[in-house]
Amino acid sequence: MTDSPTPEVHRGLAGVVADTTAISKVDPDSNSLLYRGYPVQDLATTQPFEAVAHLLWHGELPTAAELAELESLERSLRPMDERTRRVIDDLPRDAHPMDVVRTAVSQLGGLDATLLRDGGVLDPELNRGRAVYLLAQLPGIVAYGQRRRHGLDPVPPRDDLDVARNFLWQTFGEVPDDVVVDAFRTSLVLYAEHSFNASTFTARVVASTLSDVYSAVTAAVGALKGPLHGGANEAVMHAFAEIGSADRAEAWLDDALAAKRKVMGFGHRVYRHGDSRVPSMKAALDALVEHYDRPDLAALYDTLEAAFVARKGIYPNLDYPAGPAYHLMGFDTETFTPIFVAARIVGWTAHVAEQQAANSLIRPLSAYTGPERRDVPR
Ligand code: ACO
Repeated sequence: MTDSPTPEVHRGLAGVVADTTAISKVDPDSNSLLYRGYPVQDLATTQPFEAVAHLLWHGELPTAAELAELESLERSLRPMDERTRRVIDDLPRDAHPMDVVRTAVSQLGGLDATLLRDGGVLDPELNRGRAVYLLAQLPGIVAYGQRRRHGLDPVPPRDDLDVARNFLWQTFGEVPDDVVVDAFRTSLVLYAEHSFNASTFTARVVASTLSDVYSAVTAAVGALKGPLHGGANEAVMHAFAEIGSADRAEAWLDDALAAKRKVMGFGHRVYRHGDSRVPSMKAALDALVEHYDRPDLAALYDTLEAAFVARKGIYPNLDYPAGPAYHLMGFDTETFTPIFVAARIVGWTAHVAEQQAANSLIRPLSAYTGPERRDVPR
């Protein structure tokens, strides 16, 4: 018997083109990220988050009437169901906020009566409504996740505020200055979509089994939680807290690299010369540093970045400026990745729709390395 040739294995699916997508294009050579053709850095400084959501879902920026319609629907869907509050309150107060978000999203699926209807799971129209519903619900869930850790009640949403302002309102009970709102909105736009990243691919795998959108998003939240993906923005701030001040950054880095620890917020599977989203988020962070008068934080940021790039030749990713930016805004470190969820919900739901519109079950092969066939002992 001749052995069959060993198949080529692509560990981590590195370099594998798994499907086509019309939602976003990452070009590592030109360091660019396009949402439906538009450079993300231009969207981040000119468009409301809701307009970017419409663009990612529908392929075009909204007309004034379409934007008004989306805003009105999204605002009407914000109030939290009492049952969602109860399910959150049932979790320990110190449960990780990503566990809170994952649980709440899963529960929203259980509460959606339209899932019971024949064909309701895959109905594109219903799924568009579910995407808006999740977009509307998540800020309140994330905000309450932070508040209850401090023993505070939820803040009801306001229907006179856009997504970014309302998110801050529901978290802090006040709307901050425009410089803070602008930085936050920029981060939401930058986090909204990024092609076949790990969590989006997870969502597509679930969607490809013709499961429902809530299941796909619940799984995606789980994938985003890990520190090699979305959890890195939280990990960046833990590292900053450990380092303390700029003068200790180099020694801390030498120790971390000697211990073969990964430094979170640096490196990217796709970008090799820097993450295209970093300059926009760094500009937003600079504005916050000035607003809150925190040159010490900027010094730590710059020193660690310069030292890491000098030693490893690896550049920061979006999580590096986003972490300290959220810290300055007043978010708990544990809330950073849930904010990423509330933004990436747009990309995930766009990808679920795209996957199911031209579905092919995602089911790769594996190269077996276990024992050859053998007899069970009798
Ligand atoms: N710190 C230290 N070393 C690093 C880092 C880092 N952040 N990133 C890469 N390296 C090193 C690796 O140790 C490895 O070195 P070696 O060849 O000597 O073993 C080499 O660079 C290649 O690294 P891999 O992890 O194999 O590269 P991959 O493309 O798989 O990694 C990843 C991409 C997972 C993002 C990696 O850079 C990493 O772990 N970064 C830290 C986590 C992080 O910031 N994640 C956020 C991603 S972006 C986002 O979700 C918005």
